[in-house]
Amino acid sequence: MGPDLSVLGFSVKHSCSAMSGITSMKKSSGMTSRLHRVAVFFCALCIGQTSYAVDKPQPSQAAAPVSLADAFGGRLKIGAAIEASQLSGAHGVLLAQQFNSVVAENAMKPADIHPGENTYNFGPADAIVDFAQHHHMAVRGHTLLWHKRTPDWFWIDKDGQPASRELVLERLRQHINTVVGRYKGKVYAWDVVNEVIDASQPNCLRNDKWMQVVGPGYIAAAFRDAHAADPSARLFINDYSTHEPAKRDCLVRVVKGLLDDGVPVQGVGHQMHISIYWPSIASIDQSLKAFAQLGLENQITELDLSLYQHKDYWPALSLQQRLALQGQRYGALMRLFLAHRELTAVTWWGVADDHTWLNVGNDVPGDDQPLLFDRSQRPKPAYWETLHSRSQ
Ligand code: G3I
Repeated sequence: MGPDLSVLGFSVKHSCSAMSGITSMKKSSGMTSRLHRVAVFFCALCIGQTSYAVDKPQPSQAAAPVSLADAFGGRLKIGAAIEASQLSGAHGVLLAQQFNSVVAENAMKPADIHPGENTYNFGPADAIVDFAQHHHMAVRGHTLLWHKRTPDWFWIDKDGQPASRELVLERLRQHINTVVGRYKGKVYAWDVVNEVIDASQPNCLRNDKWMQVVGPGYIAAAFRDAHAADPSARLFINDYSTHEPAKRDCLVRVVKGLLDDGVPVQGVGHQMHISIYWPSIASIDQSLKAFAQLGLENQITELDLSLYQHKDYWPALSLQQRLALQGQRYGALMRLFLAHRELTAVTWWGVADDHTWLNVGNDVPGDDQPLLFDRSQRPKPAYWETLHSRSQ
């Protein structure tokens, strides 16, 4: 069953002439930038209500005048993933203008920040944190433990033999104490563990080296180490496909076990790498409710909406139709997130479509456009529908 395709029937234009009028008013009257942004915001809402161009963007639509961070300020942190190399370019400008939270796409992962037992590579992560501090942005820490980015040296002792459980746990403690300690007071939330759930396993946990060498206790150890290093940081367990019932039930089981043991888990990160086709809003709502009922904070931590689906259910859709559908989906998702008072932040996994993990690799079309801004960093229907969701 696909989405209501009637939404694709509309063919509308977004006239932003009023917006360019406001922009020129600012230049002539010297309106303060905040007042200007507010004026443009309400202009965007009233004319944007009806529609937007789904064909070539209008000149005055070229730049997104309204900051999403301002529009959602106070209710949701609006974040994006970034690489240090992007900070000095157009992505850095857009990041500072539109977002009030940032996460390192790769720089803080264990294998990236701690490539050798006595070697740390803090440069890229420091650059991202410094950028955020300069622009008064929040920082999410991603991630302290992930099977895919645990450096090989973790598993080998000084004699070249397999490291013992105790040695691995001590190395984990050292890693977390050093990294969390370095950014104490600058990183407000950490993805302490990433992608540890496997619903196909009897104990719901991925059967990786962490399970094989340390056992299930590695998760509690990571949370306790992180809390000891920064008691004020919000600590999250982060995973993908949390909307899937089996995975959701496993995550609930694991989190309840941690909470019952007094482990300091404060929130669940829902990566939300999804598409214009799935999953249903209802399934996401059900998962958010499951963790809210445990008294936990929810965050959307890696949001992107692929235009494709492995089977690509509706290949007949034109690019413009897919982008329109994507915009509708972003609007519906944001309305759901706003309805969840325990949901405190939405972070996109990238700033603009010219840099997305979805276009990396040999088994992908390579021309996906999952984010809010296009490959020239211009606002898409996804941006306008996200913005409009704040007023509905
Ligand atoms: O920096 C090196 C470069 O020097 C080298 O030339 C190049 C080719 O080998 O690799 C570059 O490193 C790549 C890195 O991204 C930076 O581009 C790694 O190979 C590549 O594996 C890495 O992929 C990242 C992936 O996580 C694995 O860490 C993606 O950018 C990143 O978007 C993706 O993000 C993950 C989240 O952390 C967790 N949730 C899923 C999400 C998507 O996989």
